[in-house]
Amino acid sequence: MATMESLIGLVNRIQRACTALGDYGGGNNALSSLWEALPSVAVVGGQSSGKSSVLESIVGRDFLPRGSGIVTRRPLVLQLHKTEHGTYEYAEFLHLTNKRFTNFSLVRKEIQDETDRITGKNKQISPVPIHLSIFSPNVVDLTLIDLPGLTKVAVEGQPETIAEDIESMVRSYVAKPNCLILAISPANQDIATSDAIKLAKEVDPTGGRTFGVLTKLDLMDKGTNALDVIEGRSYRMQYPWAGIVNRSQADINKNVDMMVARRKEREYFETSPDYGHLANKMGSEYLAKMLSKLLESVIRARIPNIIALINRSIEELERELDQLGRPIAIDAGAKLYNILGMCRAFEKIFKEHLD
Ligand code: GDP
Ligand code: NA
Ligand code: MG
Repeated sequence: MATMESLIGLVNRIQRACTALGDYGGGNNALSSLWEALPSVAVVGGQSSGKSSVLESIVGRDFLPRGSGIVTRRPLVLQLHKTEHGTYEYAEFLHLTNKRFTNFSLVRKEIQDETDRITGKNKQISPVPIHLSIFSPNVVDLTLIDLPGLTKVAVEGQPETIAEDIESMVRSYVAKPNCLILAISPANQDIATSDAIKLAKEVDPTGGRTFGVLTKLDLMDKGTNALDVIEGRSYRMQYPWAGIVNRSQADINKNVDMMVARRKEREYFETSPDYGHLANKMGSEYLAKMLSKLLESVIRARIPNIIALINRSIEELERELDQLGRPIAIDAGAKLYNILGMCRAFEKIFKEHLD
């Protein structure tokens, strides 16, 4: 039992396998519906609300492209794998198999280059995700999807429709009933104007899968605080709000280490006259642990459904193989056989989790 792969790790593997086939399942209908049905967490918010900073705090590393304008232009599926204490940290991209990155500024560069490869340099967006795995003793098992920031205006050279294009891409993720929504809003803006909350409310009216995250608590006007939001008086959520203090731009410019930033965040809450009584439920480390537990339980609840979808994929693949006839073309047949074997293996492991 102790060595059993976590459910999140298992789902990560299926997501990678389906994506490797291209187009979430290589034209296999059952596999694409399997991909669609796998639970995930999407990060949603307006531009500069602090999405990238929250992701980096959760990972404990500095690795995302940054800058002004629309920096995230393709979805980034970020799979975190917790490794044993004392092991070294590395990152791997699905599109670059067998290449381990230990230098995280090269990870940043590769995300940029891979974004440009598909979208061109003219700041287009594309719904084709980039898959990045990070293996580290400092993370929890978790899959997060970073999405382009919701925006209102196009800049020079971008298509007029960019704001709508981004919104519909983000919507295509968060509308899925199995998608948990991490809705990021900055505390120094009126919550009533939050793009993240507005969209989350539309696709998840009961709030059963939305998590409110309030960033920039340290940037609020002196003498004000966010207790009305965090304690649920100005905007009630099913789950408690998470308050966050990320690195400021000045911290980033000074290259403040992410682990130091995590510690400073903890100290901020522990010593805060406003939030001290909530300190053990605030901050990015708490948020990561809470999300990991929740994602695990959502996956567990969906296991019967996932097994049914895997079985549908197996039947569909067997039919396809029959139609190819025997002997079959080596390429097409071998690929289908591989997928079939993979599906059977996944089915077996999921069934073990049921017992
Ligand atoms: P994104 O566009 O939503 O990904 O936002 P970023 O994470 O890139 O953050 C935008 C800017 O806000 C950066 O300069 C960050 O340093 C800053 N920022 C984000 N969160 C906080 C926070 O909690 N406190 C402070 N002081 N600055 C923050
Ligand atoms: Na940004
Ligand atoms: Mg960003």
